[in-house]
Amino acid sequence: MALLEILHHPDARLRKKAAPVQQIDARITQLVADMFETMYAAHGIGLAATQINVHERVVVIDLSEEKTEPLCLINAEIISKEGKMEHEEGCLSVPEYYEKVERAERIQVRALDTAGKTFEMDADGLLAVCIQHELDHLDGKLFVDYLSSLKQQRVRKKLEKLKKQQPKSPASGAAA
Ligand code: NI
Repeated sequence: MALLEILHHPDARLRKKAAPVQQIDARITQLVADMFETMYAAHGIGLAATQINVHERVVVIDLSEEKTEPLCLINAEIISKEGKMEHEEGCLSVPEYYEKVERAERIQVRALDTAGKTFEMDADGLLAVCIQHELDHLDGKLFVDYLSSLKQQRVRKKLEKLKKQQPKSPASGAAA
């Protein structure tokens, strides 16, 4: 297993659209394992392959306290959306910044698991937020894109400052 480098906003590589996984083979299995390791090490609750500069549609999520509920979604699609909710979001690619974003309240998702089997699941609450956040990453989109341009400028300034300060402090909230 290996820890992978997480790209930070405003890196242009975060804007690339990821392609569907063609074949779930040993390379993908290794990628998924490395993504979980990287996400856990960074104290995140979700990670999209785009964030580690792999432009294929792979997402890992674990919302549990003990990191015992790993969820991997490959080639995931949202097949239905319902309602609206606002939730404070954070992102491993936008360190130490949290802001409310409006998302669908309930979603239905179809994806492949790591064995290549298609499954469908319903999600609401934080899980629904996290899945929508991660699937946005695969389309080159960040949660800060939903904010006003004034807030987006503030984020950039804050990240420029953080870049100059090393070492980084660990995340203080849930980031994905
Ligand atoms: Ni994120």
